Amino acid sequence: MNKKNLRNRRWVLENRPRGMVSKDNFKFEESDIEDIKDDEMLVKNLYFGFDPTQRGWLNDMKSYMPPVQIGEVMRSSTISQVVESNIPDFKQGDIVQGSFGWQEFAITNGKGFMNANKIPEDIPVTSSLSVYGVTGLTAYFGLLDVGKPKEGDTVVISGAAGATGSVAGQIAKLKGCRVIGIAGGVKKCRWLTETANFDAAIDYKTADLNESLRELCPNGIDVVFDNVGGEFLNTALTLINMNARVVLCGAISTYNDETPTPGPSTYMSLVIMRARMEGFIVLDYLDKFPEAIRELRNWVKEGKISYLEDIQEGIENAPETLVRLFTGQNFGKQLLKIAEPD
Ligand SMILES: NC(=O)c1ccc[n+]([C@@H]2O[C@H](COP(=O)([O-])OP(=O)(O)OC[C@H]3O[C@@H](n4cnc5c(N)ncnc54)[C@H](OP(=O)(O)O)[C@@H]3O)[C@@H](O)[C@H]2O)c1
Repeated sequence: MNKKNLRNRRWVLENRPRGMVSKDNFKFEESDIEDIKDDEMLVKNLYFGFDPTQRGWLNDMKSYMPPVQIGEVMRSSTISQVVESNIPDFKQGDIVQGSFGWQEFAITNGKGFMNANKIPEDIPVTSSLSVYGVTGLTAYFGLLDVGKPKEGDTVVISGAAGATGSVAGQIAKLKGCRVIGIAGGVKKCRWLTETANFDAAIDYKTADLNESLRELCPNGIDVVFDNVGGEFLNTALTLINMNARVVLCGAISTYNDETPTPGPSTYMSLVIMRARMEGFIVLDYLDKFPEAIRELRNWVKEGKISYLEDIQEGIENAPETLVRLFTGQNFGKQLLKIAEPD
């Protein structure tokens, strides 16, 4: 690629959202592309990955990662191609998965998980952000390590048709559980039962959640895998069995709340049922990622796990693509295609 006259188009954070994140919180601008140093490489972004946690990075508060600062390029996972490299392990043309943010080009030293991992040539590149990326791995560790499902358990998953929930539910099926998914809309619920092998799905937009859960879980719930929080968690807790495990994976229904969300009013169920409610962050399992990816790849190859990707196009659509996660428009892992590889 000829670097002459190249400019970098990018989205920076302009102001912190109050309530629902929107395009107005970001500014689209151009910058120069600097020369790389002896230990750096220049990459061109091909895809951005979208994660609900990006909404949390916009708040000026303590979290597992520092907030994105005003004027900084919006942080995101990426799939990129190496344009030029002074790092021996990376050569021009390599396709890497990293965290280079909402911009067309980035310079990196290629070190560490957030920087650059070569994508194996025998998988579709986008799967490195979906089933073999953070969401697939979150499902794997959250369900198996925190949820500890046993054969015959009843497992209830919220956000079930999403990138994380759909994989968590299919792993629970592989472990011999009865799996009920909760998702918004007929299309998503049908996919859960017809393709993803869930035993049942509840469309929370039309059904009475409490009534449906009681009907579908006559023997109670052993594992709750919660991606949504709020009313869903309140209701699910009233149905948990003795020694149940409640996996706090996320609480997307609360991420755009303007005031702090109260905890579940039904939490006394945890006391009565001697149950465990536990949060986790997938990054804590970094050293175990390779073995989990191996197992996920086998399951996909054997046709035991299906996954969906929702690929939008155009860097100018990055903020609106993030919003899709909070309106349920995404069906599968939300990605945005920025460029073709050279
Ligand atoms: N702990 C960790 O390390 C970790 C890592 C990755 C992700 N997560 C969490 O996992 C969850 C899923 O993330 P993902 O990346 O896989 O996204 P996703 O599920 O693919 O997409 C988000 C989905 O959330 C649902 N949703 C949005 N607003 C909602 C609301 N108010 N009430 C109910 N459902 C709502 C929508 O599905 P419907 O159409 O069904 O409403 C939407 O499609 C999030 O809570 C995220 O924070 C945690």
